[in-house]
Amino acid sequence: MRIQYKKATINISEYVYEPSEDSFLLADAALSNIKGSEHILEIGCGSGIISAVIQANTKATVTGIDINPHAVKCTKENGVEAIRGDLLSCIKGRFDLIIFNPPYLPTQVWERQKGWLNAALDGGIDGRQVIFRFLKDSQRCLAKSGKILMLVSSLSGVDEIKSNMMDLGYSVEEERHAKYMYEQLIVLIASKRT
Ligand SMILES: C[S@@+](CC[C@H](N)C(=O)[O-])C[C@H]1O[C@@H](n2cnc3c(N)ncnc32)[C@H](O)[C@@H]1O
Repeated sequence: MRIQYKKATINISEYVYEPSEDSFLLADAALSNIKGSEHILEIGCGSGIISAVIQANTKATVTGIDINPHAVKCTKENGVEAIRGDLLSCIKGRFDLIIFNPPYLPTQVWERQKGWLNAALDGGIDGRQVIFRFLKDSQRCLAKSGKILMLVSSLSGVDEIKSNMMDLGYSVEEERHAKYMYEQLIVLIASKRT
């Protein structure tokens, strides 16, 4: 399958998350927040859609990370640098912006899917397990005035996520939101408090 969005053309391969409303909402938010040649890291790059849109429309440099080897291959084939890793564990440097469209669906053990696509959806029992693990390690990978741009859903407890961000030393704002059939999607922007 091939998708064209905002000057980027993306091929989606098997076992890789198919870009959806959440991907496009976060890509749009990213474009609104990139001002120049920022260094950007995208966690959970999937097909590479968000990073490819950034590359096609800005002067920023972007690197993707995904735990799914098929996603890393797909992102590279779509022209974006990508590495395989678990969240920020392999990252030593600091970035101006970290972008993440995480797996956020509350998922019981018996609801897990077989195969790599589970990693795209399974947010653990409350939908916040991967998000909280990412946030806990995030400060060390951000430049002095670095920011996080992250998509969250009303299904996974937006107040709890904001509260966790504030406890970790971030100022948090809702950058944009959109209502879909079963959920509201919200893009949060978190800035390091100085
Ligand atoms: C909802 S999909 C988003 C994909 C793409 N960014 C988009 O918006 O279309 C979440 C992505 O996060 C990846 N992911 C899940 N857990 C991860 C982890 N621990 N480390 C890195 N990537 C992870 C999944 O493999 C999946 O590609």
